[in-house]
Formats: sequence, C-alpha cells, structure tokens
Amino acid sequence: MKISVIGAGAVGASCADNISRRELSEELILLDIKEGFAEGKAIDMMQTAAYNGFDTKIKGVTNDYAATADSEVVVITSGIPRKPGMTREELIGTNAGIVKSVTENVLKYSPNTIIIVVANPMDTMNYLTLKSSGLPKEKIIGMGGALDSARFKYYLSQELNCSPADLNSVVIGGHGDTTMIPLIHHATWNSVPVTQLLSKEQQDKVVAATMVGGATLTKLIGTSAWFAPGAGTAFMVESIVRDQKKLISCGVALDGEYGQKDISLVVPVILGKNGWEKILDFKLSADEQAQFNKSADAVRTMNNVLDL
Ligand code: NAI
Ligand code: 2OP
Repeated sequence: MKISVIGAGAVGASCADNISRRELSEELILLDIKEGFAEGKAIDMMQTAAYNGFDTKIKGVTNDYAATADSEVVVITSGIPRKPGMTREELIGTNAGIVKSVTENVLKYSPNTIIIVVANPMDTMNYLTLKSSGLPKEKIIGMGGALDSARFKYYLSQELNCSPADLNSVVIGGHGDTTMIPLIHHATWNSVPVTQLLSKEQQDKVVAATMVGGATLTKLIGTSAWFAPGAGTAFMVESIVRDQKKLISCGVALDGEYGQKDISLVVPVILGKNGWEKILDFKLSADEQAQFNKSADAVRTMNNVLDL
C-alpha cells in the first residue's frame, strides 16, 4: 500500500513521521515543489528507522507525481502557513491555486484515491477540492476538527488535571478562530459530563482557549503549529487504511445534515476504508445550531471568493 503526502514542510513532515512510525503503509511518498527538499526530509526520516523500528519505505520527490501513482490516501499540506497576526482566511488566494493544481496532478496518477485536505483555510480548500476533483464526496476529507478536538482535550485536561486520553470531546463548525464550536455540553471524562466537573467560568475559559489555540501557537512560534496537526492527520489516515471506523471530527460535504447544504464544514464522522462513511447527528441545542449556522455563513462568504 502507498500513501502520499504533498508538501514536505512542517506539517507534511510531521504527518509523514507519524505515518511511518505507525507503519500505516509499505510505501510513503513525500512530494514538494522545492528542489531536493522532500528528498532530504525523506532520507532524514528513513534514518530514524533504526531507532523507531519501522519498515515503511519513505521516498522524497520534487514535483514527480508519477511516484505517487496508485496512492490509497493522499494528504495535501502544500500551501503557505499563517504568520503571527494573520488569519487562516488571508491565505485563500495563494493556497487555492496550489491546492487546485496539486489535486489535478494527484488525480492523473491516483484517480480513485482518498484526499485529506490540510492546507488553510481548510473549510474553503476542502470545498474547492470537492468542487474541482470530481471525486465522490466521501473521498474528500478536511483535517481541522481532529486538531481542534485535540486542543479541546488538552485544555480540558489542564482544568480537570486528567489524562487527555480519558476525554471524549469534539469541536464542530469551521476550522477558524471564530467559526469553530467546541461542544462543551457533549464533552465527557470517563462518561461523566465535564459540565458536572467544571464551573461555568472554567468551561468558558476552556472553550475560549480552544478557539484561539492555533493563533496562540502562531504567536509563540512565529508560524503555525505542526506536531498536533501532523499527528491528527495521521490519526485520520490510520482510521481509513486500517478501516477502524473511528469517530473523528472532519470537514465533509453537507447535504442537509446539520441543516446545511453545498458547503464543507466540520462534523463528527466515521472514518473507514471508503473515506467518511457516516455523519453522526449530535442533536445540537438551539444555541449550538445557531452558532453552527453562523459559522456556515462565514465559511460560505469565504467560499464565494473562489473562482469555481
Ligand atoms: P510549510 O511552509 O512548512 O510547508 C508547506 C510546503 O508546501 C513547503 O515545503 C512548500 O515548498 C510546499 N509547496 C508549496 N507549493 C507547493 C506545490 N504547488 N506543490 C508541492 N508543494 C508545494 O507550511 P506548514 O506549516 O507545513 O503548513 C502547510 C499548510 O497547512 C498551510 O496552509 C497551513 O496553514 C496549513 N495548516 C492547516 C492546519 C489544519 O488544521 N487544517 C494545521 C496547520 C497548518
Ligand atoms: C492551526 O490551527 C493554523 O490551522 C492551523 O494551527
């Protein structure tokens, strides 16, 4: 089996590192437009095999899409990242051109692949891929909810002084500072609602920190984060290639679910060998549904900028 990661930058490399450590495929192709860049990252990663104990063959290539032929899953991380003070939305012009041309090249060699879109603004880039690729909607999946849900778990675990792995909590809506909706009323710690364990003030603090989780890191690091984005993407890849049927918040095409149509937004889905296989209905409260509709309006405004 082959998996390809397009863009060997910070997120692409972290994603490839996680995929190889978990041995999710025999072959892993890392492709970048920058001459020699993916080749170098691939060799560096292969030199961790002796210590990390994996047999995945990682190969780096410069713009050679033939090397990606017959990939089961392709992850698109190629695109410019945020700088401090920038929103994800400001990346749209440059990244739309990159994502569209990358998708065309990928499909020449892997016409039936499953595509995971990471490049920002993810909701709009995923919508662009849905509209331009001609692939069935189940095969186009945006990564953003997996990351935001992990951040939600991190901030909850800080308040509860518990293991993030013992938490069940998801973020839906858009992958943007003002469009994401951490579903605090659905979050549980070992089946106990966190709303029973945290004060209203603590709950509000966790939700607010989650929503600006990406911006907080961009300010600290000087560019956007990569460890959790790479791990979150590999977690999605694993559920697909191992047909694990995990429930993960992902960007998917909505056709009436959650009251929205003709848009890609983050909702809880089951990921398996066919891509996203089912959208879960979390029965939102009136207030949560109103927030979701507001996020949809904001994402639709961004989508309207696309030249489709
Ligand atoms: P980076 O700048 O480290 O890496 C991007 C790579 O893409 C570079 O190596 C660049 O040479 C390559 N690239 C550019 N155009 C290309 C093309 N046409 N074909 C192949 N490769 C090309 O950026 P980083 O930090 O890896 O972020 C990548 C993207 O992912 C950004 O748009 C960022 O905003 C987004 N991101 C999304 C997250 C999410 O949750 N959806 C989380 C973190 C980042
Ligand atoms: C993040 O949330 C910028 O989408 C990127 O870290």
